[in-house]
Order: sequence, then C-alpha cells, then structure tokens
Amino acid sequence: MGFDLVLFGGTGDLAWRKLMPALFQAFRHGTLPEGGRILCVGRDDLSDDQYRALIQGRFEKVELSKRPSPEEFSRFAALLHYLRMDLSQPADYERLATALNTRGAETVVMYLATAPSLFTTVCEQIAAVGLNGPQTRVVLEKPLGHDLASNQAINATLRKVLREEQVFRIDHYLGKPSVQNLLALRFGNALFEPLWRRETIANIQITIAEELGVESRGAFYDQTGALRDMVQNHALQLLCAIGMEPPINASAHAIRDEKLKVLQSLKPWTPETLSQHVVRGQYLAGASQGQPAHAYQQEKGVAAGSQTETFVALRTEICNWRWAGVPFYIRTGKRLAGRDARIVVNFRPVPHPIFRSPLSEANRLVINLQPKDGLELHLLAQGATQQQAEPSLAPVHLNLDFDQRFGAKRVGAYERLLLDVIAGRLNLFVRSDEQEQAWRWVEPILQHWRNDLSGPRGYAAGSWGPSAASAMIARDGFCWSEEV
Ligand code: BG6
Repeated sequence: MGFDLVLFGGTGDLAWRKLMPALFQAFRHGTLPEGGRILCVGRDDLSDDQYRALIQGRFEKVELSKRPSPEEFSRFAALLHYLRMDLSQPADYERLATALNTRGAETVVMYLATAPSLFTTVCEQIAAVGLNGPQTRVVLEKPLGHDLASNQAINATLRKVLREEQVFRIDHYLGKPSVQNLLALRFGNALFEPLWRRETIANIQITIAEELGVESRGAFYDQTGALRDMVQNHALQLLCAIGMEPPINASAHAIRDEKLKVLQSLKPWTPETLSQHVVRGQYLAGASQGQPAHAYQQEKGVAAGSQTETFVALRTEICNWRWAGVPFYIRTGKRLAGRDARIVVNFRPVPHPIFRSPLSEANRLVINLQPKDGLELHLLAQGATQQQAEPSLAPVHLNLDFDQRFGAKRVGAYERLLLDVIAGRLNLFVRSDEQEQAWRWVEPILQHWRNDLSGPRGYAAGSWGPSAASAMIARDGFCWSEEV
C-alpha cells in the first residue's frame, strides 16, 4: 500500500518553504506515487484540519504559478495528516509506530527536517520501536555535524540502526536540474570529454554568489559560516561533478565511488597554502539590490565581534593524471554583487597565434547554474565588417538557455529529491564516506582559522568580496570570470 512520508519538523521553516511546495508540485505533475500519505510531525497540538489550514495559509506566500487552486488544495490536503510528538519522549514513538503499522505502507520515508541535534535521537528511537526495517528510508538535511569528529559520530550512530542504503543525505544542489545537466554534458556527449584535462584546460572556477545576507538565520549562521554552510557540501559536490572520471554506469555506487576519488585526490593543505590559497571575508555595510544593507555584525542573532566568515575563496588542485597542476578556484559568499552560481572552464590559449586577438581571450565554457540555467561557449571569430589589412579576432559566444528550452517541464530540486527517496534512488544523495572525506579536507582550514587571530577580511555588502580573493587568483595570472 503506497508510501508513508513522515515529516519530522512538519511545522518548521524547511517544511513550509521547500518541502510542502515541492510535494504539491509533484502532486500537480502527477509524479507523486498513488496511495501515499504525508504524516507531518510537530510539537503543537493540532488536528489534521488545523494543520491543513496552516499549510493552505502558507501557500499564499508561494509564487503564483506554483500556488494551488482551492480545488487542487483540497485534493492535495487529503494526503496530509498531523501527529503531535515530543521527539525526546520514547512513548511518542510508540504512537508513531502504531500510526504506521496500522497502515503498513510498502515504503516509509522519515524526513528529518529538524534541528540537527535531534538526528541521532530520532534514529535511535525509531529503531527502538522497530521502525528501522528494510522498508524505511531516512532523509537527513545538512548540516550533518560541524567537523569531521561530529560527522563521524553521527554516521557511527546511524550505522548501528540503519544500513547505508537506507540513509539519504540531502545536498539540494545535487537535485538542481543544472547540476544534473552538468553530468549529462560530460557523460552524455562525446564532444567535451577529450578536452576535459590538464593539456587543454587552464583553470576552473566555481562561484556560488548570493545577494541575500543571513536573513532570519543569524544565530545558526554565526555558528556555521560559509565554509561549513556552502563549501564542505555544495561547492565540493560541484567540484566532484566537474572533476570526476566517467563512472562505469549511472548507478549510485558507481557515481559516488568516482566522487569519493576526487575528494581523496584534493591537494592536502600545508601551512603555506592555508595562508596563501584561502581567503575568508565578512560583509560590512553596503548596498544590496539598490537598498542600504547593514553589516553582518549588525544582523539579528550574530554575536558582537563575531569572526564568522560570510565569504570564502580558495584554490585547490585535484592531484591525479587528468588534472595535475590545474587550479580549481572556489568562491562563495553572502551579500555579494549578484545571485550567480556558475562554473567557468577556462581553456588554454592557442599554442601559436596567427591572428591578432584580444590578449586575454581564450575559449571558455560557462555552465550557468542559477539564476539562469544554461551553457555559454565563448569562441573567437573574425567579425570585422570592414576590409582590414590584418585579420583580427573578436569574442563571440554560443548561448544555450535550458530554462527556455525545457521551460515548465523542469522539476525543482526538492521535488526531484523527494521523488527519488520515495523511489529508493540514491544517485543524488551523499554517501557517508564522501561526506567524511569532505570534512577531512576542510578541517585544516577550520583549524588554521582558529589559530589565525587576524579574522575575516571585511568587504562591502554588494561587492564581489574582499580584494584578497582577486589577488589570490591574480598570483596565478588569472582573474575571476566577472572581471574579464
Ligand atoms: C543552503 C545554505 O544549503 O543553501 C544557505 O544553508 C544558502 O545558506 C542556500 O542560502 C543556497 O541555496 P540556493 O539553492 O538558494 O542556491
């Protein structure tokens, strides 16, 4: 009988903002499997109808095209049920077990959209009442720990009560259509793969820039910072997708094995590279989207004198035959000049120029992840309209806009990932060894920062981050793509 999706944290921010809208989209698209039930768990004392009314109110805030009509909502609402639980009370898990066992669904998804501090308790308690059988899948949101040791401790607890293939660690970047397209570009086309190597590529830049500040999450963010929030997970997953070897097939094991190898091949840090190849910043007052924006330290929930970084730029290498010596630059931050996530693959210039061409220009492949999803291929062409004594080249680019091409048929990240969990597809979820390896690699940076009292460098809100990030890349003779 269908699936049961238990949403722990059913009255929380993630449930309102992402999960309910995603589940509704799947329902509207007809992709949510038949015979499902969504059991939302929260601390408040609510009836099913009261919970449904709350959700209906929340949908008023969703963009118009994704908002249900009253008729659609009443059909969707029939799937929603509510269970009040205090997650620290073993007796409440007995009630959950009764609610689930009475129905006996083929698949039970436990989505932990709760505070991370509850992850291990909830997993132990669901096991204690026998809800960890093979039909159960547990979905964990990041952050899974705040360093290697805490991540390993969580994984060790999980291993006691669940098999690895029952654990779905979400990195929502992997659910983005643009990130899946990156794999399609590399492994569904023969065109680029022969060029995807050190002989032809000069450097690769991964940028995830956000315009927003920390919004209402100041207290959480101040304990976290950009390295843990974005680099350890999203940015490294992008780096894996760009740098991995072709997997032997599209199975979760094959893909995750290759990603793990990339993480294992990242250049180990030395005291010198830690001080030269990592820049941390924190936003000062400035302007964002034409409005004055205050400094990070003035944000609600942020400690006075906080040293938490809201920006990180770093340089690394993948030490293997394909990539040896090619710099990979990662840059991410809040309150930057634009919302812009992209990967830029800069090819080497021609070995022997016979045309006059702008000196800094070489071929470039830009993989735009957001806000636009598409590809740009920068080439040089002879565009002169007038007769010239000596031919000269001008930059031109081919532009493929996936949003325009696939438009309304595109499936959002959470929608895709939720459907994958229900179907038991692990490809787009992170395995414990990958996650631990990513922590292992960022750990020396965290330690270096703890000992480096100089703190983060200030940058004006609405800029592209501290000038030290440009200086870092300039030392290799390159510049960030928006500076080209
Ligand atoms: C989350 C981070 O994982 O990703 C947030 O915790 C960040 O701080 C968000 O804003 C960015 O996601 P997206 O999909 O908006 O790029």
